[in-house]
Amino acid sequence: MPVHHDPEVMSSVSQKLRTSGREVALVPTMGALHDGHLALVEQAKETESEVIVSIFVNPLQFGAGEDLDRYPRTLDADLEMLREVGVDSVFAPSPVGMYPVGPRTTVAPGPLGTELCGATRPVLFGGMLTVVAKLFQITKPTIAFFGEKDYQQLILIEQMVRDLNFDIRIVGVPTVREPDGLALSSRNRFLTPDERVSAIAIPAALRAGARSGEAGAEAVMRAARAVLDSHEEIRVEYLELRDPDLGPARASGRARLLVAAYVGRTRLIDNLSLTLK
Ligand code: PAF
Repeated sequence: MPVHHDPEVMSSVSQKLRTSGREVALVPTMGALHDGHLALVEQAKETESEVIVSIFVNPLQFGAGEDLDRYPRTLDADLEMLREVGVDSVFAPSPVGMYPVGPRTTVAPGPLGTELCGATRPVLFGGMLTVVAKLFQITKPTIAFFGEKDYQQLILIEQMVRDLNFDIRIVGVPTVREPDGLALSSRNRFLTPDERVSAIAIPAALRAGARSGEAGAEAVMRAARAVLDSHEEIRVEYLELRDPDLGPARASGRARLLVAAYVGRTRLIDNLSLTLK
């Protein structure tokens, strides 16, 4: 399994693949891989394309005081996992390789980038879209896979692909959960055993909300909020009901319930699709 660190080398490898008629499937990650990432890889492999996994902790999407330094970096273990599942190549650039002159030309996410997670993490989505656009240019995929766990990220990437005419199909992959419902996340490893128990309230709140869908939007919010409020160790940053494109929720039909909350020092996000009657 070749591991490319140099963007120019990766770019010429993928250029050769594309000119020889091979399709490329990209799975962008920040490493610290878990079964959620492997679900993306499995779906990518089903396309029978050349599967490239990128591993890059993107400094541009972390603001001052956020967890860039603390973000887990486990390259050797990640490569071992990818060797086991079998991918065609890995792109693992360095920050200076990706941003040789520092951040300069960047992608702006538009109004949705300032809402939900963007309200408290103002640089997150501009930085994320910038690196995803660069990864697309370097690896030249025909299809790319992203987890629904980062639902706002997925919607913004779909928006960028439409607005900037990238000829790439974006596939959203359902969230992988622990048996007790907690969404897999690279940040779960920061939870102490007690916090790990408390964190179950986050998916439980989403499920309680979804069960109240028949009674309308207000009932959904009441039910979800009640679960979160019964855990004083959880600090809710937002709990919002939106339509599936993250516009304002309509009175009936499909909707998405989204939450961001701190358990101790660890910020977790999750979301669930539901139907409003
Ligand atoms: O979801 C992530 O891991 C990152 O935001 C992504 C898409 C790899 C961009 O850095």
